[in-house]
Amino acid sequence: MQKLIVGNLKMNMENVSQRDSYCKDFLEEFRDIKTNNHVAVCPPIVYLEYFYKTLHKTGVSIGAQDCFWELYGSYTGNTSPKTIKSIGAEFVILGHSERRTYNHETNEDVARKVLMALRIDLMPIVCVGFVSSGNEMDSIKEQVEIITKNFSEKEIENIIFAYEPMSAIGSGKTPSTDEIHTMIMYIRSIISATHGKECAESIGILYGGSVVAENVTALCTKAYADGVLVGGASLSPRKFAQIVRMLN
Ligand code: PGA
Repeated sequence: MQKLIVGNLKMNMENVSQRDSYCKDFLEEFRDIKTNNHVAVCPPIVYLEYFYKTLHKTGVSIGAQDCFWELYGSYTGNTSPKTIKSIGAEFVILGHSERRTYNHETNEDVARKVLMALRIDLMPIVCVGFVSSGNEMDSIKEQVEIITKNFSEKEIENIIFAYEPMSAIGSGKTPSTDEIHTMIMYIRSIISATHGKECAESIGILYGGSVVAENVTALCTKAYADGVLVGGASLSPRKFAQIVRMLN
């Protein structure tokens, strides 16, 4: 099955010369990569168009790191999913734990954004694993259930989940592959409870948190992740390309 490898560049590349050198290096690294997997990069929103125009020829898809839950109107500072889509982006990361932490996004906010993204065929990558209080399993149950209960089986099939344990983000430490596999199966069991086993098994569930070339194979073959959401390592086109090569 095709894996999805997504680079989340977060709020980096603070000037255009850093952006340009990233894209130049990226083109060099990806020039010779032949992969059957799907690769996407999510740059800061202001660079979305530049990334699309510059990297599209490598076959890499572009995504955004967030969007708003309305398509247009008086929402100062927000970005419409329609704008994102019109630039050529295919994905939008929603509910990342950094947005839940610093922008106080709730499960309801995330569900509203998923609704709008789906309406215009922008594929949402819904991050789960944020814990503000209580335990991880209960938090994940709430984060997944708000999606399963509000969306039909047909809609759910166009959503990707990403299991991102908070302790793994930016720490260099991942849980064991058994622990990650258990959580991926747990997420599938929550989907299955509302939409059945067949639907649950067809949904892409990524793993995110300290993914590097050295652990990506095990994450996909032993933990059975359908792909990875890569933060830190995607800031180096060389390291990101190594991750992609490992899964070939
Ligand atoms: P990391 O970030 O790879 O730097 O741990 C992952 C993420 O935040 O999506």
